[in-house]
Amino acid sequence: MADFSGMDYLNSYFSTGAFVCAKDNVMTASWGFVGCMWGKKCVIVPIRDSRYTKKLLDESTSFTVSIPANGTMSKALGICGSKSGRDMDKWEAAELEKQSAKEVEGNVVKGCEHYFECVIRQVVPMNSFEGIEKWYATGDKHNFYIGEVVAEY
Ligand SMILES: Cc1cc2nc3c(=O)[nH]c(=O)nc-3n(C[C@H](O)[C@H](O)[C@H](O)COP(=O)(O)O)c2cc1C
Repeated sequence: MADFSGMDYLNSYFSTGAFVCAKDNVMTASWGFVGCMWGKKCVIVPIRDSRYTKKLLDESTSFTVSIPANGTMSKALGICGSKSGRDMDKWEAAELEKQSAKEVEGNVVKGCEHYFECVIRQVVPMNSFEGIEKWYATGDKHNFYIGEVVAEY
């Protein structure tokens, strides 16, 4: 039987949300995968077409994921998950502090519990996954950004 007991950070990532930073913007995401494939640790973040974050990721080679301790930073997660970086500086609006990433350009969110810095290796649009149409009534589909982890702390 597989033992996932040491993977608490995954629970907080999926249940309460994490901060995904692309270029100088920060967005809340609660869907995602963390795992090891091809002997490489990878993080996959699903980002819908409409997000400003998608545009920034498409202009970037990397992103960071900052995972708050379970149950913390809920106000900031709410702001970064409902406002767009097209309209405002969400760092300021959510009172978040930038901390320079170690191995990629850009920042992580200061005060989180766990961090991944990722180099984007592939982008997979969700355009032919049978049975998921009900999630996309408006056609605003997810794209899976597959990032190779180059720093984790
Ligand atoms: C808890 C929570 C989880 C979210 N997860 C995702 C996600 O996994 N993928 C996504 O595209 N949007 C997700 N969103 C919505 C975006 O965070 C939201 O649309 C945000 O305003 C986009 O910001 P941007 O336009 O600056 O990229 C989530 C929102 C919340 C509140």
